[in-house]
Amino acid sequence: MFARTKLAALGNAARSTQARAFRPISTCSVARSSAIFVHRDTPENNPNTPFEFDARSLVEAKAIIGKYPPQYKKAAMIPLLHLAQKQNGWTSLSVMNYVAKFLEVPPMRVYEVATFYTMFNRSPVGKYFLQVCTTTPCELCGASKIVETIEKHLGIKVGETTPDKLFTLVEVECAGACINAPVISVNDDYFEDLTPEATVSLLDNLKAGKPVTPGPVSGRRNCEPLGAQTTLTTPPTGPGFMVREDL
Ligand code: FES
Repeated sequence: MFARTKLAALGNAARSTQARAFRPISTCSVARSSAIFVHRDTPENNPNTPFEFDARSLVEAKAIIGKYPPQYKKAAMIPLLHLAQKQNGWTSLSVMNYVAKFLEVPPMRVYEVATFYTMFNRSPVGKYFLQVCTTTPCELCGASKIVETIEKHLGIKVGETTPDKLFTLVEVECAGACINAPVISVNDDYFEDLTPEATVSLLDNLKAGKPVTPGPVSGRRNCEPLGAQTTLTTPPTGPGFMVREDL
């Protein structure tokens, strides 16, 4: 009797192991980046493309390196890559090789950093680099509509550059300005509280070379409440508030 029960239990265990073994694997669609980080030599991006810091960048680079002890100057890699990208417009192979030489490190050390951070553009971008945040808070406030508006207005898709090389559009994760969602950055400036209409007018002004004012387009200052103030509406109570009198 005991042996039969034990055999039945073993059979059940085997069946459930079998069931587990054949459990289907569920997958979701692959989320691909809008940029490619594998280097292929091209006429504009190969080891022979010339790059070196101009006089202004050189002064800045020396000031950056001066912040670190001489034996740790490689710690200046990210600021130097930023500086080089600012001068060149994007981070080419020559930019990375130059920074490696500048910091006296193997080029691979620079490739590792430049290909890890999406802020380094490994291919040329337009004069205005539009980064639309599509992470949850921005998405809830209409980021998809903003992407759609830009795509329609400029006639490009995410990851593309306009034929006149004025605009490049990419999607990014949280830009750290969620309170003012939806947000896009144009080069180093943030434009916030965007609506499709405000986005079109921003693009038109940029295209026409007119001045644009970064920040919330809704009219609020920085991240103060939209509409009426909802907190700190009465004078502060001061010391001793709600404290027993005998204390
Ligand atoms: S989610 Fe868009 S800025 Fe944070």
